[in-house]
Amino acid sequence: MTFDPARTVLLLNGPNLNLLGTRDPAQYGTVTLTEVEERVKALGTELGVEVVCAQTNSEGGMVDHIHRARHWAGVVMNPGAYAHYSIALRDAVEAIEAPVVEVHISNVYAREEFRHTSVTAPVVAGYVAGCGVFGYELGLRAVLRRAAEHRS
Ligand code: DQA
Repeated sequence: MTFDPARTVLLLNGPNLNLLGTRDPAQYGTVTLTEVEERVKALGTELGVEVVCAQTNSEGGMVDHIHRARHWAGVVMNPGAYAHYSIALRDAVEAIEAPVVEVHISNVYAREEFRHTSVTAPVVAGYVAGCGVFGYELGLRAVLRRAAEHRS
């Protein structure tokens, strides 16, 4: 399949999400990141897009991945803890053309107060939290809807 940016979505996971499956299962469940990526890729195939997956534990790495996807159909991003304080990540999201949907597996609003703030939320095209890993599939559907609206 030839690479078509208009039919490619980035699934980006931030710090500590490589440990999904074993990290705090009461909050994040037991599904691994590899399984999540497989599910979202399969949904992408159903919906006619290629899903490119990336995970990084560094802030600069997140920014670089977002820049790389700036002309793609969209980005589904779980920024992890960077959501709560990374202005660099917020600026990257704001700077790109592609719509970004933010996903949090847990209901951050039912947790510690420092998780109630998202500096990225005001600049994303959509926000999903508290739906478990199913939130990534919702995120993909939402970002494709936003991309279609953007084109029309
Ligand atoms: C998280 C919520 C964040 O507060 C936390 O730092 C994470 C995961 C979530 O998916 O629920 O790493 O983004």
